Amino acid sequence: MAGASTATHRVAAALASLEPSATLAVDAAAKQLRASGVPVISFAAGEPDFPTPDSIVEAAIEACRDPAMHHYTPTAGLPALRAAICAKTVRDSGFAATPDHVLVTNGAKHAVFTALTTLLDPGDEVLIPSPYWTTYPEVARLVGGRPVTVVTTASSGFLASVRDLEAARTERTKVLIFNSPCNPTGSVYPASLVREIGEWAAANDLWVLCDEIYEHLVFGDAVQTSMPVVAPELADRALIVNGVAKTYAMTGWRIGWLIGPRDVIDAATTFQSQVTSNISNVSQRAALAALEGDLTAVAEMRAAFDRRRTTMTAMLNAIDGVSCVIPDGAFYCFPDVSGLLGRELSGRKVTTSAELAERLLSTVHVATVPGEAFGAPGHLRLSSAISDADLVEGVQRIAQFALG
Ligand SMILES: Cc1ncc(COP(=O)(O)O)c(C=O)c1O
Repeated sequence: MAGASTATHRVAAALASLEPSATLAVDAAAKQLRASGVPVISFAAGEPDFPTPDSIVEAAIEACRDPAMHHYTPTAGLPALRAAICAKTVRDSGFAATPDHVLVTNGAKHAVFTALTTLLDPGDEVLIPSPYWTTYPEVARLVGGRPVTVVTTASSGFLASVRDLEAARTERTKVLIFNSPCNPTGSVYPASLVREIGEWAAANDLWVLCDEIYEHLVFGDAVQTSMPVVAPELADRALIVNGVAKTYAMTGWRIGWLIGPRDVIDAATTFQSQVTSNISNVSQRAALAALEGDLTAVAEMRAAFDRRRTTMTAMLNAIDGVSCVIPDGAFYCFPDVSGLLGRELSGRKVTTSAELAERLLSTVHVATVPGEAFGAPGHLRLSSAISDADLVEGVQRIAQFALG
C-alpha cells in the first residue's frame, strides 16, 4: 500500500493525537534561542534553579563506585529507599504507610502515568480541576480515560469546591486528580476544604490521586495538607504521588514514587516489571541520601521563591491589563493577561495568550508558557525559578511590550 493512508497508520492513533508537553517545548525553544546568542530570559522552567546539594551528589558518586549498585534493583525500588519514603511521609504529612505500599518510579510524572494506567478502564472519567498541570489530561486520555475539567478561577483563589466537583461527577467518574500546592496557579487548599473534598470522594467511591510534589514550597500562613490524613475514610482509595525533584533540586535524577493500597501498588509493580524493570539504581541511592538528610536545601530555596513571588506579583500587577493573585505555594505566578488581548502591541494586534507568549519570545525575548497549556486561556505561567536580577529584567521587558 502506498500514499497517505499508510502514513496515517505509522504511529498509533493514541500517540498521533498526544500533545507534546508545552512547558518542556517552550523551555527547549528558549534554550535554543539563547544558544544562538539571543539574550533570552526564560520564565518557562519547571525546575529549581539550584544545584543538587553536595551530600546527595557524593552519595551518588559512592554508589557509582560500588559494584553492588551496578545491577537491577527490585522492581518496586530499593528496600531502604521504600522505607525512607515511608519515614519521610509520616514526618512531613502525617500519612503512615509501610514499604509494601510504595512503588519507586522514574519521577513523579511517571508515577502519575502508572497510577492512571493502573486505575482506568476505557471511558472512565477523571475529574481535573483547571488550571491544571498540562500532563494530567493528556495522560488520562492516553490510557483510555476521559478527562473532565472542573473550571476554577482567580475569584475563588483557583480552588475547586465540593459543589463544583459534584456538578461534574457522573456514573463514570472514577478518579479525582488533586494537586496542592498547584502547578500552575500556586494555590494551596486549606485543610478544611481538603477534608471536605476527601469526605465527598470517599462517600462517592472515588479514587483521589494526590500530587504532593510541591509539599514543601508553601509561603506565609499556607499549610500543605495530605487528603488521606484529614479524611482517613479515603485511605483505601487515595494514591499519593511525590518525589525528590522539587524539594532537593533533583529534577534530572528522575526519582518519584506512588504510595497507595496494596492491590493497586501490586498491580502497578507488575506493570512496571514489564515496562522498565526498575528505576536507576544510582539515582535511587541519591534519593535515599536526600531523604535521610535534613530539609536545609528546601528551606533555602523556599526563602528565595518567597522573595521572588512577592516581587513578581507586584511587578505584574503594576502592568495595565495584567492582574495576578499572589501564589501561596510552588514557584509560579499565573497572571490573567486577558486585559492585554485585543490590543495592538508592538505593531500587531494580539488576540490570544498563546499568541502573546509567542510575541513576547520573538519581540522582547522573554519565554513564558501560555495558559492554553493548562486549560486556562487568557493567562501566562511565569516560573520564579530564575535569578532575582533576571526576574526583574524579564518582567520589565513584558511591561515595556505591554505599553504597545
Ligand atoms: C504538579 C506536578 N506534578 C509532577 C511533576 C513531575 O515531577 P517529576 O520531575 O518528579 O517527574 C511536576 C513537574 O513539573 C509537576 O508540576
